[in-house]
Amino acid sequence: MHIDIITLHPGLLESPFSHSIMKRAIEKKLAEVTFINLREYGLGKYKQVDDAPFGGGAGMVMSIEPIARCIEELKGKRTYDEIIYLTPDGERFDQKTANGLSLHSNIILLCGHYKGIDERVRELFITKEISIGDYVLSGGELAATVVCDAVLRLIPGVLSDETSALSDSFQDNMLAPPVYTRPADFRGLRVPDVLLSGDTGKVEEWRLAQSIKKTKIRRPDLFDK
Ligand code: ADE
Repeated sequence: MHIDIITLHPGLLESPFSHSIMKRAIEKKLAEVTFINLREYGLGKYKQVDDAPFGGGAGMVMSIEPIARCIEELKGKRTYDEIIYLTPDGERFDQKTANGLSLHSNIILLCGHYKGIDERVRELFITKEISIGDYVLSGGELAATVVCDAVLRLIPGVLSDETSALSDSFQDNMLAPPVYTRPADFRGLRVPDVLLSGDTGKVEEWRLAQSIKKTKIRRPDLFDK
């Protein structure tokens, strides 16, 4: 899978992609992630990427020309399954969307800043708009990172235990059951006996019951699905 992230702040993205599971996905060549600095497509001597909004008002708007030049150049090299804009007014990101994106070959993630992007960018280029929650971030970079983390771990071979992505919370609309490790007794707090029993059937039954209980209490909206 190839992901191009268009950003004004590539430095914001570097660390998360150089650690843990995303780093592993890249090192194993199961994913290729490129940060494209939009500033390089800016206009004039100062490489301007934004301008005042028509009609007045506070804040700057990201201009269409630099973004168009950047996306058109990328499209000359690859065919993209989706060109995604990270924005608080996009569709809410969830596990189902992550699963769908993990099946794609090439995607672009466009990170916004300031007051957002010229509306015509959306009309001309954007095929999907994603929000990671009902709050406003300073830019799309952290949202793009969240999306990539959720997607890359789903690519077969990225996680060492192939089944572990399937048992994540939200796969099948259920929250994951509690987990424990040694010691079996910490200051009198004991691990449930069933987990020490060695009876895998009983363990699975217990985990399912715990998942159901937790989902019903914490996320009745998921349970109804
Ligand atoms: N950019 C700013 N806020 C955002 C959000 N909540 N989700 C996605 N992109 C954003």
